[in-house]
This record gives sequence, C-alpha cells and structure tokens, in this order.
Amino acid sequence: MVDEIVIDSPLDMHAHLRQDEMLRLVAPLTSRSWAGVMAMPNLSPIVDSPAAAVAYRAAILEAAKEGSDEPFEAYTTLYFQTHYTRDFLADAKPHILSIKFYPRGMTTNSSHGCDPADPGVYDVLASMEELGIPLSVHPEAEGYYHDREELFGKFVRDWVRRFPKLKVILEHLSDRHSVALLDLPNVHATITPQHLMTTGNDWFGPPFNPHLYCMPCVKRPEDRDALLQACFSDHPAKIMAGTDSAPHTEDRKVACGCAGVFSAPIAIQLYAQVFASAGKENMLQAFLSDNARRIYGITPPKRTVRLVREPFAIPSSYGNVIPMWAGGTLEWSIKA
Ligand code: NCD
Ligand code: ZN
Repeated sequence: MVDEIVIDSPLDMHAHLRQDEMLRLVAPLTSRSWAGVMAMPNLSPIVDSPAAAVAYRAAILEAAKEGSDEPFEAYTTLYFQTHYTRDFLADAKPHILSIKFYPRGMTTNSSHGCDPADPGVYDVLASMEELGIPLSVHPEAEGYYHDREELFGKFVRDWVRRFPKLKVILEHLSDRHSVALLDLPNVHATITPQHLMTTGNDWFGPPFNPHLYCMPCVKRPEDRDALLQACFSDHPAKIMAGTDSAPHTEDRKVACGCAGVFSAPIAIQLYAQVFASAGKENMLQAFLSDNARRIYGITPPKRTVRLVREPFAIPSSYGNVIPMWAGGTLEWSIKA
C-alpha cells in the first residue's frame, strides 16, 4: 500500500475565486496547496475584456500571497460573448488561456450567458479556432435538470464538426452520456471531486445537503462509475483536475439555495483518495498537472506537494463558507 504521494505543481483548471472579501478568504486557501488555478470569469461585472482579465489575475495573486510564499499562478479566461470580434480576441489571447461559454440561466451568475443555438456563436468560435484559443464550456442545455448535460451534447458535436481545430474543454463532466464526447478529437474535460466521489443521494438526501449541491448536479452511481472509468482507463490523457470549487456564504447557500461546492482547501486530498482507493496513485500526477500542461501548453510554477496517508479532519467551516464534507475525515493529508 502506498503511503506517500508527491505531486509536482498541482493545477486546478476550474475554480471560482470570487472578488473582494470572498477572494481574500479563498485565494490563500487555494495558494496553500495548488501551484496554479484557472479562475472562472462569472464575476460581477463579468470578465469580458483583456484589461479585466489582467486586473483579476493581479487581484488574485495579491490575495494569494497570504496563503503561501511558494510560487503560484492564476490563469484567466473571458466570459464568452457573441460580440467578440477577431481583433478583440487577438488582443485578448496573450492574457487568457481560454474563453468560457456559459449557457444563459443554467448556473450561478450566468445571466450574461449565451444561447448555444444562437448563430452568432459560430463567428466567435471561428475566430477562436483560427487564433488557437481553447473553448471551455459549461455543457448544460435547457431541459429536465438531470438531462441538461446530455442535452448539450448535440451542440458540442456540431461545434466540433464545424471547427475541427478548435480545442474544447468540457467543464465539470458529470454524466455518463458525455464521456463518449471524449472520443472526438480535440475534446477534453475537467472533473470535480464531488462528481467522482458522490451520487445524487448524497445531496438530495434526506436530509438535503446544500453543501453538495452544484451545477451540473451530481448524478447516478452509473455516471460516477463512468467518470472514474474515463479517468483511469478510457480517456486518462484527456481529463484534468478542475475542482469547480465554488464558495457561497453559508447564509446564501442555505437561504437562497446557491449552487456550488466549496472544496479548494481539500480537493487535492479528495482526488488522492479517489486515485489511491482505486490503486491508481501512479496516474495522479498526470490528472493533477501534466495533462493540463499539455492541453493548455502551460508551464506552471515549480512546486512540490507531499501527500501522506494520515487522517485529515475537514474543518466545519472556513470563515463563513462551509466546505464539502464539513466535519468529516479524509484519508490523506498534505505535509509541509
Ligand atoms: C458555480 C458558481 O457558483 O459560480 N456554481 C456551480 O454550481 N458549479 C458556477 C458554475 O461553475 O456553474
Ligand atoms: Zn464552475
């Protein structure tokens, strides 16, 4: 049995770090263990210009200093808008890793999102393909809540057929039907700890657990098992860690039912538990870092994280945010 795992430069390729007070809470909790993070653009106002992306990166790096003296990088992405022109995207390219597509109304802060069926989407995708800017997608379409990701599959197939050189990253893959999309060339994915470790019964209850409720919702055991199989055997080179850590204050989570699971400080340990329980520790480096480096063509800051098989008690809260599995115990700890 392996009792120690060392990871070079772990990267969280999908996380919500928010702004202002929440950023000051979350950025240090992220930089403590991760070497880099892809910060999602669903802020208020949304990140929709190179200047906003540059300013957001600077704010994250400033706030992250509280968490660690080790090198840390924040990667940014723009919120997809149909008015982006080729020239605008060419100017933005040096400052971003991707453009993030939000289907309107499908998740937190997605009122500025687009209709995937809007023909205006094609013009932007054509420019992105030409310029080599990856498309990162929240793949959910309107429909019964459990089927939304499956329903989005037709848009992914259409876009990949029309723009064969466009690199597509399906964020927070959750549905067994989507795994087949990874057979398409240039289609990649991120997967969260909650989608690999829990099923719908864990959030639906009873009792309902708002801290495991997110978009896309965690689904059936068959979906979880298909995601594990995709990571371990079917598509191991195409899947990256992307926690979708999405903090909301406890009162908003409970009173307003905001979607999002907060996992930033515990996600490396959670992923280690998933891979080690399956005897796949040797695949963790690729999942946590190497795949992202290759898919996005990035060289993250050099940093080593040492995991040991020792119980870690998850705090009941971090400030006013309740983490996934608050008060529970993990099998792996991070050692300084
Ligand atoms: C995210 C958030 O809170 O910003 N929520 C979520 O449930 N995942 C938005 C998102 O990634 O969909
Ligand atoms: Zn997200």
